[in-house]
Amino acid sequence: MLTDHTTLSQFLIEERRRFPEATGDFSALIIDVGLACKAIARRVANGALGGVLGQAGSTNIQGEAQQKLDVIANDVFIRANEWGGQLAGMASEEMDMPWVIPARYPRGKYLLLFDPLDGSSNIDVNAPVGSIFSILRAPNPGVEPRTEDFLQPGTKQVCAGYAIYGPSTMLVITVGTGVHGFTLDPQLGEFILTHPRIKMPPTTQEFAINASNARFWEPAVKRYVDECLEGKTGPRAKDFNMRWIASLVGDTHRILIRGGVFMYPRDTRDPGKPGKLRLMYEANPIAMIAEQAGGLATTGQDRILDVKPTKLHQRIALIFGSREEVERIEAYHRDHS
Ligand code: AHG
Ligand code: MN
Ligand code: MN
Ligand code: MN
Repeated sequence: MLTDHTTLSQFLIEERRRFPEATGDFSALIIDVGLACKAIARRVANGALGGVLGQAGSTNIQGEAQQKLDVIANDVFIRANEWGGQLAGMASEEMDMPWVIPARYPRGKYLLLFDPLDGSSNIDVNAPVGSIFSILRAPNPGVEPRTEDFLQPGTKQVCAGYAIYGPSTMLVITVGTGVHGFTLDPQLGEFILTHPRIKMPPTTQEFAINASNARFWEPAVKRYVDECLEGKTGPRAKDFNMRWIASLVGDTHRILIRGGVFMYPRDTRDPGKPGKLRLMYEANPIAMIAEQAGGLATTGQDRILDVKPTKLHQRIALIFGSREEVERIEAYHRDHS
């Protein structure tokens, strides 16, 4: 029975009762991921006082200059999850190769993929950042996975979620039975169920895109945004607002709560680069959450969750949000193909 003081642990136990064969490993894994997010939330909250601002002086496989908090958050995820015996392996935005579970720990039946600190450009300016995670089943439980074992389409995710480190810290997860939001009670150190069964509004008057890339957009995206900008007098016959937090988690959470559409489309700058965001630990988990909340998530042409991955850090175009808006953008892509 979900009360208004349901903790994350209680929620997971209640969910587990629906699957008699469940062993509790899955719940234990999500609790460990939740602990990692609580630990990161504390480091983020300390800001300059905790020595977490600024660059680490290293570059990741993405070619990005790592922020200190990128590296700290990555280490926190590894330490909180490598020992529990639920994982066969882990992969991260911040690590070239998957993390090998040390021999002193048992290996389990899941794979954890994560973006340990999303929105790194926001760290030093005290704007919202987050962590994003995705859980897959390991093809060979208990055995060190090959990189290709991670390359499963988003439909294979058994859990997806994010933590948002904002005015409050929240954990938003789906295990395939809807989307549920938990708010961290810092005194108790517990995530409390505050947003059960989140439903994304199917329509919106708010879009999110980095408008400085307009000259590179595909025709369908250009047409969609131009029509939003024409407002009441244009074909949409309503005015639109624009928001861009430059943190996928921040834009996602707003869209989940009040509707909207997020676009980081492929652009013509680099035909070899199908988009900026990463499929395995950004687009896939966010797409599962969007769909579980009644929204849609697409590359513009294809459903994100159906994309067959070929590389661990592959990039992809990501358009997601209120169902009617995403359907409109997909229709424009068909018109212009
Ligand atoms: P990360 O900080 O994990 O590298 O992700 C940053 C991503 C995403 O969070 C955000 O939506 C996008 O980059 C912002 O891109 P621009 O800075 O190009 O607007
Ligand atoms: Mn990110
Ligand atoms: Mn990141
Ligand atoms: Mn990054």
